Amino acid sequence: VSLKPFNTFGIDVKAKWFCSFENENDVINLLSNDRYREEKKLILGGGSNLLFTSDFDGLVMKNDIRGIDKLKEDENHVWLRIGAGENWHEFVLYCISNGWAGVENLSLIPGTVGAAPMQNIGAYGVEIKEVFESLEAIHIKDKTVKTFSNEDCRFGYRESYFKKEGKGQYIITSVTLKLSKQPAFNVSYGAIAQTLEESGVQKLSIKAVSDAVIHIRQSKLPDPKNIGNAGSFFKNPTIDFIDFEQLKIQFPGMPGYEQPENTIKVPAGWLIEQCGWKGKTLGQIGVHKHQALVLVNYGEGKGGDIRDLAREIKKSVARKFGIVIEEEVNVV
Ligand code: EPU
Repeated sequence: VSLKPFNTFGIDVKAKWFCSFENENDVINLLSNDRYREEKKLILGGGSNLLFTSDFDGLVMKNDIRGIDKLKEDENHVWLRIGAGENWHEFVLYCISNGWAGVENLSLIPGTVGAAPMQNIGAYGVEIKEVFESLEAIHIKDKTVKTFSNEDCRFGYRESYFKKEGKGQYIITSVTLKLSKQPAFNVSYGAIAQTLEESGVQKLSIKAVSDAVIHIRQSKLPDPKNIGNAGSFFKNPTIDFIDFEQLKIQFPGMPGYEQPENTIKVPAGWLIEQCGWKGKTLGQIGVHKHQALVLVNYGEGKGGDIRDLAREIKKSVARKFGIVIEEEVNVV
């Protein structure tokens, strides 16, 4: 089976086995099937945060668990349990149409609901952990169902238990989020405020915030339907304040955002741009012209070439700034 339609980078590799599942029983049956027991397994959501560098010699399992259930509500909140295979952005639009606030800043993020907590998706001042209540996951080896609370997931910047100790061990089947009936708007990200002002919005609403986010994303980030990509390829590195001060002497324009414990987060996009990579094309692959953090496949690119390009970028950033940047995308 070609995996090209199942990864937003549009890399044409094959899987030895491919199947999809629509409920917990399907998962248990697949995991109990003799044919697949010894096979390596890869769980796929929207395929929007991974890079295939070769054929997958094992079983690719696509999560197609759907459905949104309202578990409970009170005067101020609503608790929703969402099937892990639901499309994230469609879910965001559903919340907006119902007047439920909390995820509007996370509009237009590619991928599925189940993949969202894995890397604690975040954008424009909001992370999913802020509305996250719990999730259910099946342990691949034991075939038991486990509930993870917000704390259990150990969310960090683009991090969770499922990218660390729990990596490759669980299949997330549903996610429960707590949304607000009274919105608390987060328009701290400069470009949102600016976009709202330019579009002449008189009264803030979750729809207006979502529209602004969509507008900004569309202007900066390539649409995977047209150009293969997996969003930010690298994480923004965090460095010590002292090192930042030093670098500022040599590179006065270097941006940085203060973090706890005397550290500073530096935009990797800026570092990469300063190394001259922004908009570079190498045959079928390259660095996006509006956002240097995004690597792109113009059509027939190979995963291995993108991985090599990423290595070159990392090396040049380390050479120029002494900062090691890390991949955000899962390289398979
Ligand atoms: N910048 C450059 N050149 C570039 C790109 C960025 O100089 O080519 C500098 C600018 O100074 C800009 C700053 O970097 O002001 C920040 O850029 P941007 O607002 O685009 O955000 P980012 O830090 O590059 C992060 C997330 C994005 C998310 C945006 C908005 C990571 C790894 N990425 O990018 O997430 O949409 O903030 O909140 O944290 C994703 O994870 O796939 C993703 C797109």
